[in-house]
Amino acid sequence: MDLKPSNKFYVTTPIYYVNDVPHIGHAYTTIAADILARFNRIQGKDVFFLTGTDEHGQKVEKASQERGKTPKEHADIMVENFKSLWKKLNISNNAFIRTTDTEHIKTVQGLIQLLWDNGEIEKRQYSGWYCTPDERFWTEKDLVNGNCPDCGRAVEQIQEENYFFLMSKYQDRLIKYIEDNPSYILPETRRNEVLGFLKNNTLGDLCISRPKARLSWGITFPFDDKFVTYVWFDALVNYFSATRYLAPHAERAAAGDFWWPADHHLVGKDILTTHAVYWSTMLMALKFPLPNNIFAHGWWTVDGKKMSKSVGNVVDPNKMIDNYGTDAFRYFLFREVPFGLDGDFSEDALVKRINTDLANDLGNLLSRTLTMIEKYREGKVPQPVESLDREGMEKKIKAWFGPASCISADCEDFLRQLQFNNALARIWKIISESNEYIAASVPWKETDEGVLSNILYTLAESLRLISIYLYPFMPDTANNIWNQLGIASDISSINLEETAKWGGLKPGTTTQKGEQLFPRIETKKETEKTKGGKGAMTESGQASAEQKPEEINLISIEDFAKVKLKIGRVLEAERVPKSKKLIKLQVDTGEQRQIVAGIGHVYAPEDLVGKLIAVVANLQPAKLMGVESQGMLLAATDSDGVLSILMPEKNVKEGATIK
Ligand code: ME8
Ligand code: MG
Repeated sequence: MDLKPSNKFYVTTPIYYVNDVPHIGHAYTTIAADILARFNRIQGKDVFFLTGTDEHGQKVEKASQERGKTPKEHADIMVENFKSLWKKLNISNNAFIRTTDTEHIKTVQGLIQLLWDNGEIEKRQYSGWYCTPDERFWTEKDLVNGNCPDCGRAVEQIQEENYFFLMSKYQDRLIKYIEDNPSYILPETRRNEVLGFLKNNTLGDLCISRPKARLSWGITFPFDDKFVTYVWFDALVNYFSATRYLAPHAERAAAGDFWWPADHHLVGKDILTTHAVYWSTMLMALKFPLPNNIFAHGWWTVDGKKMSKSVGNVVDPNKMIDNYGTDAFRYFLFREVPFGLDGDFSEDALVKRINTDLANDLGNLLSRTLTMIEKYREGKVPQPVESLDREGMEKKIKAWFGPASCISADCEDFLRQLQFNNALARIWKIISESNEYIAASVPWKETDEGVLSNILYTLAESLRLISIYLYPFMPDTANNIWNQLGIASDISSINLEETAKWGGLKPGTTTQKGEQLFPRIETKKETEKTKGGKGAMTESGQASAEQKPEEINLISIEDFAKVKLKIGRVLEAERVPKSKKLIKLQVDTGEQRQIVAGIGHVYAPEDLVGKLIAVVANLQPAKLMGVESQGMLLAATDSDGVLSILMPEKNVKEGATIK
């Protein structure tokens, strides 16, 4: 009987130590698993998403002693920090394993017994150097200046009997396995590191016991109660043991191999060796299939520094969520840095992403669309009229969701390869095109009702579809958009293939315009500039379609008329000596004038000569690095810092006025 369904998906996170509170690094891996789990669920797969805590071993024992608790009491308290954070972060794990669970303990003991019975374990006299905080043995030649080569701390010499898993005999098989299965360890750079390590070193056997006299907080050896299990052996087994008692329909799994092997073990690069080498060889010795993939993601630093308690820069995800919201935080972590590379966390960068991508691009697209549907169609999704597609613009938007340049296939590919940032970039491309489409089709000037209906339907339908792809990353936001569009169902219960088809939004649906998805966050700098005050971080409403133009920092036409703008032709251009940015221009605006502009980091002087530019002609002269400037040229800078000089689209005469 084959119990293994072809469409199951099993993803894991590391089980985190309960010696400490969760920080953004833990949140990162867990959100990644959540994104995959959610995407696979809407694809119709049977999903098992497992996370949990690692509760045995020296670190936990020590942390509990410092708090005057038993290790289990300590673990019971600490585990809640993880559970409550996962709730707050909207993590959809199916199960939460604790290595102190009775069933897990039994599984670990069962597997040790199995390995012992099969001659995969040996008892040996051992002498070596032990790093207590890292719980690792080292040989004399491993040590660096007599200290632990990993953490640099002092090591103790230890002589004792212990049980060894005969890992060394699997060295060649493991090398071959990794070579034959290019996607077993990813990313590629990490795979090469593991292969390099395995090819250039002799793999030793793995000490998998600790005498109780030295450490009592662990799983007792099944056939020798003077020993407990090495914490890593215990911890790695969680991925297997959970399938037996925590997974959906675990009874079937217990009878066969419903969930095993896992599709992805997501881990940080810090624990790749334990997974790629220890776990893989343990599975080989047990004659169990290996997981399909172990993915080691990169490391987060904070404002350029390693997160550490002593530096005091550990970022509490709870605080980020309280200040910025769950979805903004989830989005930032996966938009900013490719999974697999190291990233630097900064609140400034987070705020920038919220203001540009979320408030501006996504939030405005929704609020503009719904405002127009309210204004022009009494809040009802209009019936589109395909034949009226003006210049094929609707067709272009539609094509994004069609079979040819299908976002479904792209997102699926990117997510299969864990390229979260690319999936988001693809979604944002569609968001930008939809915003450009509004600008290009000028619905507020449209006089043909059919054309207007088409535009409004296209925007609303594209938002409905965009939400489906946003859902794995930002589940609440995606459902919020659906609600505002007037769709009653929850995206978590859809089937991607059936629902992600153009035309799913029913004409006549009553929209429910709600709050801004992401209010703009005023940064300190902006507050100082606009209010002249000290400027705490505050939230404020943003300019959007439903706000009347008068509300946004307005000037009168008379004010504007005070500014004389003219077209000028650049006659000469040269760099201002000793300045990287300043270029001195001689410009003909009907009369010759000298203008100094900070554009030299982007433009070369020779590229400017002969060009027509826009100039503020009645600005008081000013000196820049001692060089007089009689006016200024107009240039645009976007949020990415791209600078572009404004130039007229046609040839006009020098001195032409701009209004
Ligand atoms: O190692 N950047 O638990 P742990 C990115 N119990 N990810 C980070 C991070 C950072 N700065 N800091 C932590 C253990 N992580 C073992 C695992 S598994 C069978 C046993 C994440 O609490 C990342 O996933 O030290 C890393 O691998 C994990 O937390 C380590 O968590
Ligand atoms: Mg760690």
